[in-house]
Parts: sequence; C-alpha cells; structure tokens
Amino acid sequence: MYAIPLGVDGAELGPLEPWQAEELLAHMDRGREYIGRFVPLPEINKDLPSARAWLQVYADGTAADTRRLWGIRLDGTLVGGVLFRVFDAERGVCEAGCWLEPSAAGKGLVTRACEVIVDWAVERRGMHRVEWHVDPENTASVNVAKRLGMTREARLREVDVHRGARRDVEIWAVLAPEWREHRRTGGGTGPVAGGRV
Ligand SMILES: CC(C)(COP(=O)(O)OP(=O)(O)OC[C@H]1O[C@@H](n2cnc3c(N)ncnc32)[C@H](O)[C@@H]1OP(=O)(O)O)[C@@H](O)C(=O)NCCC(=O)NCCS
Repeated sequence: MYAIPLGVDGAELGPLEPWQAEELLAHMDRGREYIGRFVPLPEINKDLPSARAWLQVYADGTAADTRRLWGIRLDGTLVGGVLFRVFDAERGVCEAGCWLEPSAAGKGLVTRACEVIVDWAVERRGMHRVEWHVDPENTASVNVAKRLGMTREARLREVDVHRGARRDVEIWAVLAPEWREHRRTGGGTGPVAGGRV
C-alpha cells in the first residue's frame, strides 16, 4: 500500500479502489451538499452499488491507461480525491478534476494533490497538456486552476446541464513547459495569483 504525504499534517494521497466503496460513500454522505453544488459526483455515488460501479470505471480506466483516481486522506479518513477524468497518453492530453468534503477545504490539500498528479503526468508520463474544466461560478475550483499556473482558454456557453439548469464551462490548461516553469519559480501552494486571464 502506498501513501504520498501532502505536506500538511496527517494528509496523504493514496489509492481509491472498488473495495473501498463503503469508505467513499461515508465520505460522500458527509459532503453531499457541498460537493454537489457544481459537480454530479453525489448523484453518481448515491448508494453502495453506484459507488462501487463508479470506482470500477476508474479501476478499468487505470488498467486501460485512460483514467486515474486517487483518494485524499486526513488522519486516515477519506476527505476527497483527485482524478484524471480523461487520460490520453497517445495525444499527451489529460483532464484533471478534484473534490473535498467541507471539513477538509481551505488547507491547500487539493492544490498539493494536483501538484503531485500533474508532476506525474508531465514528468513520468510525458503529458503535454493538462486541462481543467470548471463552472465559472465555482470560484474555489477556478482558484485551484490559477494556483496550478493554468491559463483560461475558453468559455463554452451553456454546454453543460447540472441539476436541471444549463451551465457555462471554462477550459483552463497548462502545457508541459509552462508547468516546469511554474514549478521552477515556486508557484503552487501559495496565495492565489491573478492567473493569465
Ligand atoms: C474545488 C475544491 C476542491 C477547492 O477546495 P479548496 O480547499 O479551496 O482548495 P485547496 O485544497 O487547494 O485549498 C486552497 C485553500 O486553502 C488555503 N490554504 C491554506 N493553506 C494552504 C497552503 N499551504 N497551500 C495552498 N492553499 C492553502 C488557500 O488560501 C485556499 O483558501 P481560500 O480559497 O480561502 O484562499 C472544493 O471547493 C470542492 O470540493 N468543491 C466541490 C467539488 C468541486 O466543485 N470540484 C471541482 C470541480 S471543477
């Protein structure tokens, strides 16, 4: 079993697999309202069978090298996760995402976890472009994209439907050379910079 320290006391990044569906569901139940404001994760993970099925999609995606998922644990309790919803090794393009239960927000956990997985994607897997798709009203998530040194590239108007309402989606991205420069200059887990918007 591996666990990567996230530089905050008791915080680690580690596996989140189908056999851990009960742990995921208990975590989702603690954060359902907060997590679901902009993303459909609580609806996707509504009970044990659906949570197990969702984790299986990512387990299969990991085996096929087309998706990835990791859990964030604080003192051994699952409090969130980061993922590559899309991982296209041939094109060198992936799309990262994240979530936390409310008690774990405001500590820099997701920014740090994303730094670990983007480093892995760029440096170990040769990814050239890491995307972040976000509802422009999701300020906390937009701020993560800024902390990761991403550039806002586009706003797709009313492309998504969430809880019955049409929503815009912004595309943010960082390219491999930009990521290396961002890391070299110490960007990341500090105050939110303005972002190149
Ligand atoms: C998006 C989401 C994960 C962001 O959570 P977050 O806690 O703001 O993000 P981080 O874990 O990176 O923490 C950053 C916060 O911790 C603070 N912080 C404290 N110590 C820090 C440190 N050492 N490094 C970085 N930030 C730190 C930052 O100032 C920031 O707080 P602020 O926004 O009040 O300034 C969270 O809002 C969430 O789960 N939302 C619901 C699901 C969702 O919308 N997911 C995104 C889909 S695109």
